[in-house]
Amino acid sequence: MSASDYIKLRGGKPLIGEIVLRGGKNVVPKLMVAALLTDEPVIIRDVPKIEDVEIMSTIFRRLGVEIEEIRPGTLQITAKNIREMKPNDLKGISGRSRIPILMCGPLLHRFGRTVVPHSGGCNIGPRPVDFHVKALRELGAIYNENDDSGYFVTKGLRGTTITLEYPSVGTTEQVILSTVLADGLTELHNAAVEPEIMDLISMLQKMGAIISVDTDRTIYVEGVDSLSGTVHTGMPDRNETASWACAAIGTNGRIFVRGAQQLPMMTFLNKFRQIGGGFDVNRDGITFYRENGHITPITLETDVHPGFMTDWQQPFVVALTQAKGQSVVHETVYENRFGYTESLNDMGAKIKIFEESPDQIKSRFGKRNYRQSVTIEGPTKLHGAQIEVPDLRAGFSYVVAALIAEGDTTISNFKVLQRGYEHLVAKLQSLEAEILEIKTSL
Ligand code: EPU
Repeated sequence: MSASDYIKLRGGKPLIGEIVLRGGKNVVPKLMVAALLTDEPVIIRDVPKIEDVEIMSTIFRRLGVEIEEIRPGTLQITAKNIREMKPNDLKGISGRSRIPILMCGPLLHRFGRTVVPHSGGCNIGPRPVDFHVKALRELGAIYNENDDSGYFVTKGLRGTTITLEYPSVGTTEQVILSTVLADGLTELHNAAVEPEIMDLISMLQKMGAIISVDTDRTIYVEGVDSLSGTVHTGMPDRNETASWACAAIGTNGRIFVRGAQQLPMMTFLNKFRQIGGGFDVNRDGITFYRENGHITPITLETDVHPGFMTDWQQPFVVALTQAKGQSVVHETVYENRFGYTESLNDMGAKIKIFEESPDQIKSRFGKRNYRQSVTIEGPTKLHGAQIEVPDLRAGFSYVVAALIAEGDTTISNFKVLQRGYEHLVAKLQSLEAEILEIKTSL
């Protein structure tokens, strides 16, 4: 356990108060990439101070892109003087984020060539980029290797018909960002349609792109000759909304999430209500609480939008440790996203992991011994422990568990939460969480 990066929390007190959301972790860095498609200034508002934004700002500066915080939380990006990306531009960054690979399309349009960034992100299964590479090849990019780096080169990206094997969020964004300026029409079948993708499309539309979305998961992109600058506000973070909702029901508190929107949270709100969560929606946000003092068990599976998001599952599971009866959660998006439950069991939870779905739901990963389902027996009294954050969403779920638990919990590797939760410590303090010690760069 690192002595320099941990938080010690005392549980047993409800979280009460208000937090303010900013633009989503899974949208704002992609809006930044879209700014590379024009020479004109692009202004992005409600930019959170999180790691992916910092990583993209660092790469942009190295490439000669002007990036300036013109007001707190508002970035102005001008890519007029951008130069080609070389391996050195990714020094210290490779493997830390899934965003830089999305720069391939814009850079191929500008220079006909780009180094391919190594992808990264949370440690939740292998997380390959094979769909991205396949799609770029279909659009006319050729992959080469040279001095230990992979490069894409192209004589010009061309619109075509692409069918994704799975509605991958990143690959859908890759195709959109690569085809808005491509020659001709692109038809993307089996596309992801997450609200964050629609937000990216809205910004691109303001920049001059022609993109339409059909109800059957087909996205059509008609290539245009050029795009112009724009001003855009990133949509509020849905994952952070769900995280605080679970903290409210789990601790039997009451949290107003300023900026939370009902429509993109509809699936979450249904499940939240089914387990006994209460919520009041108003123009400025949503207040979350426990409706009648107790939590009801549930069976649910994660899915691509409009399903229940994989990133909501972890704090939801913690709340379900307080439900009366057995819940079942089946993960279908990632092959390995339940490892975090072992530490919850160390805190007194009764969670069992199964390789097969108990209710025989067919898994897209087949019989490859992935641990994809859990049963959660509740209610269980949680007690303090020493635990270590394995990934972002699991990390937040540990915070919720620690705040429910009796006694003190030390959570190490806490800085991982910086990847997706802006000003987390200040938010916990404002909700009157009992923080006994804190040593972290958050
Ligand atoms: N996949 C492949 N090959 C690829 C790409 C994806 O096999 O080339 C697989 C993945 O391994 C996974 C599934 O397809 O099993 C879905 O991955 P997807 O591409 O949809 O995910 P992503 O774009 O890498 C984004 C979010 C994740 C979120 C997922 C699913 C960002 C930066 N990340 O990842 O967010 O879980 O979509 O909604 O947008 C988080 O916020 O904590 C987080 C991990």
